Amino acid sequence: MKLSFLPVSRHTAPAHPPQPGGTPRLRRLRDLPGPPQWPLVGNTLQVQLDKVHQDVEKWVQQYGPMLHVRLGGFPLLVVSDHELIATLLRDRPDTFRRPSRMQQIMSEMGIQDGVFVAEGEHWAKQRRMVMASFAPGQVRAYLPALLKVAARLRGRFERAAARGTPIELQADLMRFTVDAISGLAFGMDVNTIESNDDVIQRHLDQIFPTIWRRAHAIVPYWKWFKLPRDRRLDRSVKVVNTAIRGYIADARLRLQDQARRAAPHNLLEAMIVAADEPGSGMSDDDVAGNVFTMLLAGEDTTATSLSWMLYLMSREPQTLQRARQEVEHCLGDLQAWTADDLGRLDYLEACIHESMRLKPVGPFNVVEALKDTVVGDVQIRAGTSVLLLMRHDTVREEAFPQAERFMPERWLDEATHLAPQHAKRVSMPFGAGPRICPGRYLALLEIKLVAAMLLQHFDILGIDTPDGREADEHMALTMVPVGLKMRLRPRQG
Ligand code: HEM
Repeated sequence: MKLSFLPVSRHTAPAHPPQPGGTPRLRRLRDLPGPPQWPLVGNTLQVQLDKVHQDVEKWVQQYGPMLHVRLGGFPLLVVSDHELIATLLRDRPDTFRRPSRMQQIMSEMGIQDGVFVAEGEHWAKQRRMVMASFAPGQVRAYLPALLKVAARLRGRFERAAARGTPIELQADLMRFTVDAISGLAFGMDVNTIESNDDVIQRHLDQIFPTIWRRAHAIVPYWKWFKLPRDRRLDRSVKVVNTAIRGYIADARLRLQDQARRAAPHNLLEAMIVAADEPGSGMSDDDVAGNVFTMLLAGEDTTATSLSWMLYLMSREPQTLQRARQEVEHCLGDLQAWTADDLGRLDYLEACIHESMRLKPVGPFNVVEALKDTVVGDVQIRAGTSVLLLMRHDTVREEAFPQAERFMPERWLDEATHLAPQHAKRVSMPFGAGPRICPGRYLALLEIKLVAAMLLQHFDILGIDTPDGREADEHMALTMVPVGLKMRLRPRQG
């Protein structure tokens, strides 16, 4: 299997004559190479918004590992070396923050700050509250709710297979993650898998794409006048905010039961319990902001990662066969699966790491400098944004031999020659440092659950792209495969 985005060669940064005294001379952003910038718009018109990751990947191949571009009116330092990336990600919240624009946009929309956009001391307090709801024991407590949703998805797949209808892969997996995450975040049994609709989700479907669109708009027209779609958005935000307040009130009623308070059943309850701890500094506003954050951060990411993994696995019959054997060996009846059972699926977990190496749903991350600082040998000013290209070293032959191939075994002891010693420091699909994704264990659990259910109950006859060629990558909030359709056959016995 060949993937088309691989770099052809590695460029090294240009040599810089040392200053007298032997210290290497620091470069400024404008000294760096990069694609020629046009007056006023810089490089903005040279990229396609839904392919921006591939455009930047190509520029790195052409101009070297660090470059200077100008997108959406802002100068950007692009960094692609994994060690440098990890250093910047670790240097939060003191030296770098998430882009302030994201926070501004969400607050203009009327969305409370959650841990994803909060900064400084406020972020630290929110992070403590959120982490309490993702403690390993807590995540295990969510399994029964997830199993119920997985069983419904199995029913939906069985009906499609019986009709002989191909399954819209991304859309159906979104139903799973929407039901799973909104069930946990609202404490309600949301059922888009069987009902085909959910009122809150319909409003969220207006909100999420707008965040991405506004974050990349050249002119923030909505500050001066509103189009019908902006008025629709305002209504949706209002409905979602009111609903979240209602869910918090319901959860507070349930938590009057002290036994439930000691063992919260879902993310919402666990956050409320953590917020009620003396000195937490958290209010119901913070809980509300984080309910919204869980939906924003936990739905597309997990569904998209699953789509890519199933797609890549479906093209390798031996991989499918080995994963199925493991599932058959480790797991009994779906409703009786435990977190320990799922924890034994080492090969399936290797499939997850390998697909995230090749198809990270966040192929780049952006941080903004809070003070004047130095990145590698480049001096940058406070306020400068740095684009961290996550899929660069991960697809380099020097790091991962036969880098273009999907080979899950490279993540297992049997084939360590196919991966660097610290492979997980090179491939960082969940980010790194103090802001690493807090939902990663929950995401891994969900991904394993759905993949194992599929392998146990169905033969995957194929996952097809619209034109029969390699799946196209479309960048929105996450990097989504375009138009995948899955054909299934129920397994006998
Ligand atoms: C496969 C699925 C997922 C992927 C690939 C993913 C990836 C990421 C990445 C790359 C970041 C940024 C990390 C950084 O800046 O260093 C992040 C942050 C975050 N993720 Fe996830 N994520 C996934 C699932 C989830 C789930 C299921 C949840 C919660 C339900 C979640 C909640 C969050 C939150 C709250 C943050 C912000 C953390 C902070 O800023 O302190 N994610 N995720």
